[in-house]
Amino acid sequence: MVNVQTFTKRKQQNRKISMVTCYDFWSAKIINQSDIDCILVGDSLAVVMHGFDSTVHATLDMMKMHVAAVVRGAHDKFVVADMPFLSCSKGITVGMDAVQELMQTGASAVKIEGAAHQADLIAHIVEAGVPVMGHIGLTPQSIHNLGGHKVQGKGETDAQQLIDDSKRLEQAGCFAIVLECIPNKLGDCVSRAVSVPTIGIGAGPHTDGQVLVLHDLLGADPDFCPKFLRRYANVNQLVAGALNGFHEDVRDQSFPAPEETYG
Ligand code: KIV
Repeated sequence: MVNVQTFTKRKQQNRKISMVTCYDFWSAKIINQSDIDCILVGDSLAVVMHGFDSTVHATLDMMKMHVAAVVRGAHDKFVVADMPFLSCSKGITVGMDAVQELMQTGASAVKIEGAAHQADLIAHIVEAGVPVMGHIGLTPQSIHNLGGHKVQGKGETDAQQLIDDSKRLEQAGCFAIVLECIPNKLGDCVSRAVSVPTIGIGAGPHTDGQVLVLHDLLGADPDFCPKFLRRYANVNQLVAGALNGFHEDVRDQSFPAPEETYG
């Protein structure tokens, strides 16, 4: 089973890390049977599961409810929980209370967006014995400041900033760093700049691992097709087909059949 030490070892051994998001019990049970290394209960659940337009709407209560469901289904996996919007920006006590609640709900680690602004809190959390995953590049909680879902670190100054940020996060004690939506070359530079593993989403092939949103890789939303996404299934068509099959069988009364009926 993956633990926090596994992450650094994997980087040293040049063995890539796979991570997927998960928000509920039934998909957690499937992931638990799979070879996937690690689960992220991402605040993207606000969008994927609750239909909000951004992760800004994720609350601590929401995160706790989904973490609890996931850990009930995925006993054998390392589960990282996102610290929700502003939970890390209201002072150390509020931050530590949120960390306590997520860890006592069953998470194995927390993930925090941002670098310089969060470095002291991250160091404090790590000091307190809780593993922290960093997250830089496109940080969706700052979407209103970034002006949309845009590739980050394109210019030289921004790229250097991201390299410096990754070093800062390593210094603060992060055991891994998510790199979201940055150019391929920068993904490589950042991954070489730190000794902790980087886990990319839209950050090219040179990061030490890759993460995708489960629903995206399964093809749940046919309209969502960013450049970085590879779909491994077409769940949208599969589910719609199953539902229409059930509907037809009800209409033509072929369901339930005698063998599906109590005598
Ligand atoms: O919330 C999330 O799903 C994430 C991943 C995209 C890394 O932070």
